[in-house]
Amino acid sequence: MNNEAKKTVFSGVQPTGKITLGNYLGAIKNWGPLQDECNCIYCVVDLRSITVAQVPADLRKNTMELLALYIACGIDPQKSTLFIQSHVPQHAELAWALDTISYIGELNRMTQFKEKSRKHAENINMGLMNYPVLMASDILLYQTDLVPVGKDQIQHLELARNLAERFNSRYSPTFVVPEGLVYKQGSSIKSLQDPTSKMSKSDPNDNAIITLSDDADTIRRKFRRAVTDSDTCVRFGEDKPAISNLLTIYSLTSGESIADAEQRFAGKGYGVFKEAVAEAVIATVEPIQQEQQRLLKDKAYLESVLKQGADTAERIASKTLAKVYRKIGFIPRVR
Ligand code: TYM
Repeated sequence: MNNEAKKTVFSGVQPTGKITLGNYLGAIKNWGPLQDECNCIYCVVDLRSITVAQVPADLRKNTMELLALYIACGIDPQKSTLFIQSHVPQHAELAWALDTISYIGELNRMTQFKEKSRKHAENINMGLMNYPVLMASDILLYQTDLVPVGKDQIQHLELARNLAERFNSRYSPTFVVPEGLVYKQGSSIKSLQDPTSKMSKSDPNDNAIITLSDDADTIRRKFRRAVTDSDTCVRFGEDKPAISNLLTIYSLTSGESIADAEQRFAGKGYGVFKEAVAEAVIATVEPIQQEQQRLLKDKAYLESVLKQGADTAERIASKTLAKVYRKIGFIPRVR
C-alpha cells in the first residue's frame, strides 16, 4: 500500500510518571500492530501534563522514559513518527483557533475535567478545562483517521469530531473527522482495589495500580492483595467485576482466551489464579523494562528519534495550520 492510501493514526500518553498497565493494555499495546498498515504518529503529550502541577526535573525524566517505553513496546521509529508535543508549536496554535469555536458549556461537561477539578480543587486552572481542545488540535493537525485509545477518552474524541465538523461547516471542508479505535478487550482496565473504577495513575492507593516500572515482587504482592468477588469461581461476568478484570488482564498478557482461562482455572480457587495473572504480567513487562533501560542509556539515539519525529510532525502540522489560518482570514506572513 502506498503512503497516500494508508490511514493516519494518532495517539498519545501523558508523561506523568507512573504509566499503568491500563495505559499499556488499553492503548500502547495496540499501537505497534497498526504500523504496517497505517501512517502512525505517536506523541508524548507533555503540554497536557502541566494542567496538574509537575516538578520540572521529574517532567523531563518522565518524558524521556515514556519515549523509551514507546519504543520498548514495539513502536519502531523507522515506521512511525514519535515526537514530543511541545516540540511542535502548531499544537498550541491550532488549539487557540479551535478555542474560539468551543463552548464553555461543552467543556464544563467533560467527565475528566470534573474529576480532576475535584481531585485538584486548589488548582482548577484554565488549562485543565481547556485541555480537550488541545487534544482535538493534536488529532486534527494530522488529518487523523483513527485514534486508538481507552474508553475514558471517548468523550474527548467526540469533542474533536464535533470541532472538526463545526469548523468544516463554518468555513469549508478542512479537517478529516476522526474515528476512535477502542478495542473490546482491555479498553477499561479496573483498579485492583475497586473494580468499579478504572485503574488510574493518580490513584493514591499504590496497591490499586500496576505500573510498568513495578518489579516482579511488587507485581506479585499487588495481585495477591487484589480484591475478589464473593464466590470462589474463576468466571467472567457482569456480576463478577473483580475476577472479570483479572481475567481480562490475564488474557491480554498471556494470549490465552478468556474461555480457555476459565477452564484452566476451574475449581482451582483464587490464590492459584492470582499467581498466574501476576506471572503473565511479569512475563509481559520484564522484557519491556529491560529494553526501556537499555534505550535510556543511549541518549544520542533517543534524541535522533525526537529530532526526526518533530521534523516530520511539524511538516504535516504546519501544512494544516496554514490551511486553517487561510480559511479563517489571517494574512500569510511574507518570508
Ligand atoms: P492518558 O495519559 O490519561 O492515558 C493514555 C491512554 O491510556 C488509556 N487508559 C486506559 N485504558 C484502559 N484502561 C485504563 N484503566 C486506562 N487508563 C488510561 C487512555 O484511554 C489513553 O488512551 N488525553 C489523553 C492523551 C492524549 C491523546 C491525544 C490521546 C492527548 N492528545 C490525542 C489520543 C489522541 C490522556 O490524557 O491519556
